Amino acid sequence: MNVLLIGSGGREHALAWAIAASPLLGTLYCAPGNPGMVTLGTNVALDVSNHEDVITFCREKTIGLVMVGPEAPLVAGLVDDLTAAGIKAFGPTRYAAQLEGSKGFTKDICRAHNIPTAAYERFTALDAALAYVRRQGAPIVIKADGLAAGKGVTVAMTLSEAEAALRDIWDGRFGEASCVVEAFLEGEEASFFVLSDGVNVLPLTTAQDHKRVGDGDTGPNTGGMGAYSPAPCMTPAMTAEALETIVKPTVKALAGRGHPYKGVLYAGLMLTKSGPQLIEYNARFGDPETQVLMPRLKSDLLTLLLATVDGTLDKMSVRWKDETALTVCLCAKGYPGTVAKGNPINGLEKDLGAGVEVFQAGTALKDGQLVSNGGRVLNVTALGKTVKEAQQRAYAAVDAIDFADGFCRRDIGWRAL
Ligand code: AMP
Ligand code: GLY
Repeated sequence: MNVLLIGSGGREHALAWAIAASPLLGTLYCAPGNPGMVTLGTNVALDVSNHEDVITFCREKTIGLVMVGPEAPLVAGLVDDLTAAGIKAFGPTRYAAQLEGSKGFTKDICRAHNIPTAAYERFTALDAALAYVRRQGAPIVIKADGLAAGKGVTVAMTLSEAEAALRDIWDGRFGEASCVVEAFLEGEEASFFVLSDGVNVLPLTTAQDHKRVGDGDTGPNTGGMGAYSPAPCMTPAMTAEALETIVKPTVKALAGRGHPYKGVLYAGLMLTKSGPQLIEYNARFGDPETQVLMPRLKSDLLTLLLATVDGTLDKMSVRWKDETALTVCLCAKGYPGTVAKGNPINGLEKDLGAGVEVFQAGTALKDGQLVSNGGRVLNVTALGKTVKEAQQRAYAAVDAIDFADGFCRRDIGWRAL
């Protein structure tokens, strides 16, 4: 079977790596892909926002499955259009992708189905939002409604921070202004991934991300500076509770609305004293969490993706290596702000040690030289029997890579140690 994978980040490199290992695979095409993926498939320059072009490409290359990596094409309805054209595509429809695309949509589902999440109100007018925040007091959490690339959330520890965040939203930075204001939750954060075929839910595994740019979880939020899987705080009991009280009711709610959720559902959880609560959903695999999920996966990814699209997840099981995977994001200096591009990266051809994989993200080839081409540049991933071993192996590999313009957090995994 030929597969078209949409995306170009570290997540997509890890997905390509797992798909390329499938006995079911014919040719893998990556649109647009990155230099790390050229040994696994063929990179193609397709404008994925032009759904007709994608459909034409799929017909020409007899694509048996389109795997959508990032959220933007999902929210734009790529899966709807491919499905209507008779092409199998992994990922939720535009409607179901609102679980990620609209915080208000998700909160309203939680309220209607008693799914544990922070108490909240939605606002479309600044005055009402300000009045509410003043009544509630700080700490309080302000969320722009809509996709904001992880930058639309302010955890305000003071009232003036909260007010500033609201004014920012009504300054028009996030398009049409509306927001969710919700109660501040305390606890440890963890990510829980499941596959859903619309009816059946197959739990995958858990991970923990490191969102802040600096060691000790300091500095501004990023897309994620590193991750490990599994998350020790997600005990079997905690995982079962999250599945029964949060994930399954959500999947049932969407099916009940006539818009079954098909794809991977990534639940961002806060493990509070009273149990897991939903912080947010993502309608896709995590980045960099996928870079630690794929090295642990023993089952065939392509088989699981197809079962999700075909509605046969009830017949599937999934096996994981009994090891920890840990990934360190090597970023270009300045990230998450402005970064310089085009700086050389060397050393990837070296033997970087047992259980090590480097997934590329913001890279490019310039006259045959690998160079940086974005904020998060490489994901240096290692397996180990323990978090400590995985961490030591990952950092040994990081230190063997020559990327003078790069930096990384030195403490990925600290919560688990
Ligand atoms: P989100 O984009 O909704 O995942 O929010 C980004 C980050 O803000 C989360 O990863 C949490 O660290 C934090 N956050 C979001 N909602 C809350 C909340 N209700 N209480 C405390 N922290 C939160
Ligand atoms: N690592 C966070 C995300 O993928 O949204």
